Amino acid sequence: MHETELNHEEFSLFRQYIYEKVGIALSEQKSSLIKGRLNKRLNQLELKSFLEYYHYLISDMSGDELSFFVSAISTNVTSFFRESAQWKWLESYLPLLIHSKQEKKLRIWSAGCSSGEEPYTILMFLQHHLSDFHEWDIKILATDISSKVLTKAIAAEYESKSVESLPKEIFVRSFEASKTAQGNYRINNSLRSKVIFRLYNLVTDPFIFKNRFDIVFCRNVMIYFDDTTRFELIGRFIRVLPQGAPLFLGSSESLTTHRENLKLIGSSIYQRI
Ligand SMILES: C[S@@+](CC[C@H](N)C(=O)[O-])C[C@H]1O[C@@H](n2cnc3c(N)ncnc32)[C@H](O)[C@@H]1O
Repeated sequence: MHETELNHEEFSLFRQYIYEKVGIALSEQKSSLIKGRLNKRLNQLELKSFLEYYHYLISDMSGDELSFFVSAISTNVTSFFRESAQWKWLESYLPLLIHSKQEKKLRIWSAGCSSGEEPYTILMFLQHHLSDFHEWDIKILATDISSKVLTKAIAAEYESKSVESLPKEIFVRSFEASKTAQGNYRINNSLRSKVIFRLYNLVTDPFIFKNRFDIVFCRNVMIYFDDTTRFELIGRFIRVLPQGAPLFLGSSESLTTHRENLKLIGSSIYQRI
């Protein structure tokens, strides 16, 4: 395969564009990562330089190329019941939440949902802990900037190695009884129908939510964002959380701002005050 060089000017163009569009602050060291991960893409598109690819990227109004670029330079790693301490915490919070919901309606946002393990885990968790789960009106909004991971999330098919650590009872109640033609396990229709997947850029898309959320998950998404982008995004989450509602971040993410609106109540779990 022919390897195309990425010069400093080209890298600066990508850096500025990605920061404005996605909030990801690329350090100089990421130059070789971009070159390595995108050379194949240039070949596929039969483009001769990174400058040509830059123009291709910025002129793609569908956002598909941006989504491809972001997937190439960041990670979509996720898993069912990731960060077990947080699910343990949620177990103790659930009775309080349930008690406050007379109309049996829950709205939860999984922001940066990747291939769907997080929103489906939320449902598996609720199904396991609510004896009257089927009487509840539950909707999970699951959003991501990458159309590639969303396609996977909507298909809801997972390899056996991703599901083997799930407790048997949870597995049986959450997946279709038989394997897919490819030998994967598919989340059952009852759980799938409770998730609304949307392509959504947390940094640039308008925050036009009619209703507020009982819980927001934004875990392991802000790792690439700089302080300004993080500050703005957290400010937006605050606006869609009612008083007392929790915001879950990734365990390696902590907040240094917005202390007057958010209180640390668990492992990277903040409560709207
Ligand atoms: C590492 S995954 C985290 C998945 C899941 N939340 C978890 O903790 O297991 C990060 C996800 O954030 C998404 N992402 C990154 N920047 C984003 C942005 N500006 N808007 C929306 N999603 C973004 C990526 O596409 C990726 O799927």
